[in-house]
Amino acid sequence: MTTEKQVPVLTVDGPSGSGKGTVGQMLAQELGWHFLDSGALYRITALASQDQDIDITNEAQVALVAKGLEIKFIPQKDAPPSVSLAGQVVGDVLRTEQIAEMASQVAAMPKVRAALLLKQRAFAQLPGLVADGRDMGTNVFTDARLKIFLTASPEIRAQRRYKQLKEKGFDVNLARLLEEIQVRDARDQARTVAPLKPADDAHILDSSGLDAQEVVQKVLDLLKAN
Ligand code: C5P
Repeated sequence: MTTEKQVPVLTVDGPSGSGKGTVGQMLAQELGWHFLDSGALYRITALASQDQDIDITNEAQVALVAKGLEIKFIPQKDAPPSVSLAGQVVGDVLRTEQIAEMASQVAAMPKVRAALLLKQRAFAQLPGLVADGRDMGTNVFTDARLKIFLTASPEIRAQRRYKQLKEKGFDVNLARLLEEIQVRDARDQARTVAPLKPADDAHILDSSGLDAQEVVQKVLDLLKAN
């Protein structure tokens, strides 16, 4: 892959609730770089398959949906980019645990991952890209300038997700959320294709006792030093 030769890429991977979405967006804003929320592509694939009444265990059909996605990320000031599918803005339904669970199922399918690979690489554009996900450093942008793997304890991650979902007005239960996160992490780590794990050359940052700004500062310091 030749992307990094022209375009600097910063990858931020980690499990759900590790803070990578918030931190990734803040970094992109700080650096003036583009931002890729790769999880949104898996979520949209799940949502679009559901909307088209496709059996989400049918890998070939789900991969066809993934291939045909017309997705746009529309930057928002001080908020995550909104996502549009075939010209229609997709609301907060994309962020529900139900869609996250389906996303994790379709993400374990090699044909689906292959269908989304080039779409993800196409986000690498000047002046640079911050890419957030599970396999940005291990698979999609293997020669990124800097690779970060963010972790935090499952309890802290569940609390963060709880707060985020509550703020969006969803009815959530903390104990159930913790269970769902653990099931999803286990599937993401155990799958044979592009499992969730740090790249050999990733910097591992535990965000448990840190706020988002402190994590951003640590990453910016690493970027300067690398
Ligand atoms: O990050 P987010 O929670 O939106 O991701 C939803 C699901 O999409 C994850 O649980 C994971 O299974 C999948 N995913 C992935 N590879 C990525 C990003 C997300 O497999 N790069």
